[in-house]
Amino acid sequence: MKRIAVLTGGGDAPGLNAVIRAVTKSAIQVYGWEVLGVRDGFDGFLKPQGVFPLRLEDIRGILPRGGTILGAANRGNPFARKVIREGKEVIEDVSGQVVQRIQDLNLDGLVVIGGDGTLHIALELFQLGVPVVGVPKTIDNDVGGTEVTFGFDTAVNIAMDAIDRLHTTAEAHHRVMVIELMGRDAGFIALQAGIAGGADVILIPEIPFQYERILEKIRQRIADGRLFSIVVVSEGAHPLGGEKTYQRSGDAIYAPRLGGVGYKVGEFLEAQGLETRVTVLGHLQRGGSPTAFDRWLASRFGVAAVDLIAQGRFGNMVALRHGRIVDLPLEEALREPKRVDLQGDGVHTARQLGICLGD
Ligand code: F6P
Repeated sequence: MKRIAVLTGGGDAPGLNAVIRAVTKSAIQVYGWEVLGVRDGFDGFLKPQGVFPLRLEDIRGILPRGGTILGAANRGNPFARKVIREGKEVIEDVSGQVVQRIQDLNLDGLVVIGGDGTLHIALELFQLGVPVVGVPKTIDNDVGGTEVTFGFDTAVNIAMDAIDRLHTTAEAHHRVMVIELMGRDAGFIALQAGIAGGADVILIPEIPFQYERILEKIRQRIADGRLFSIVVVSEGAHPLGGEKTYQRSGDAIYAPRLGGVGYKVGEFLEAQGLETRVTVLGHLQRGGSPTAFDRWLASRFGVAAVDLIAQGRFGNMVALRHGRIVDLPLEEALREPKRVDLQGDGVHTARQLGICLGD
């Protein structure tokens, strides 16, 4: 009988519980294995109570729930962990302790569910001999090797709903409504939610924008009798020749925190005499129940991850390609982060619809 463990790392995303459920069900019911849950990402391996048995009764009813029953930590990198030494904060590599704990637990497989950062840690642990398989998660959809990550569809639907709601006020008050969406350095959420929500302007990190182009578009609409406009801004969007907007710079533990570019766009438009309001949708995009698509994808990923362990295909990540579940080496998937393809049909569709992309 094999013994496997599962953990969720990085920020949460709708569908994490669906993966945990699928892993647990298929490992226990199909293969007859023992399943352990690891609390708060890799941190769980460093705490005495951080690893615990996951039984079928523990995963009942979690399919529609957002978040993760295991907890997640986006500062839990064992290769660079903040510890206190002689009263001072220092960064230490504690990966040896994690590997030792995994060996002590006699794990035959470790399912790591995470985005880019977490999967990079998984790859490093694999290179140290840990039998890892990866499951790509993120609302940003920026993990390479897979057409889509779970969590993304839910985020796009929440963002689209928000744009629909802003439309009514924009139209009633003849205003410009700016909405800033998440996505880090990838514009997938903004592009897809913007098209689905009928935005007039969509600014994404992959296309540096010019303020004048946004103004031209809105003025043209006014000239055509359309007295309101919807401007969707991805948090990583930036002006041509300008910088991205950060709320907080990064350090050895935390990634830099993007946010605020929507306010800059709003201030510019107000200064041009256009009545403008700005909404930053923030973490609402990551919360709540996953869509049917995300539950379906997450369930397939979870089952496929357990099958990979059964076949001994360690160091690999499950992925979606042409609608089918496949797997590929983590190293290959993580070589380059995924970005919006400027020649792809998403950008083409936006342009053909007359949406201004800021260039
Ligand atoms: O990667 C997912 C994401 O929600 C990004 O879109 C966003 O930039 C970031 O995480 C926010 O991170 P945190 O929850 O740490 O503020």
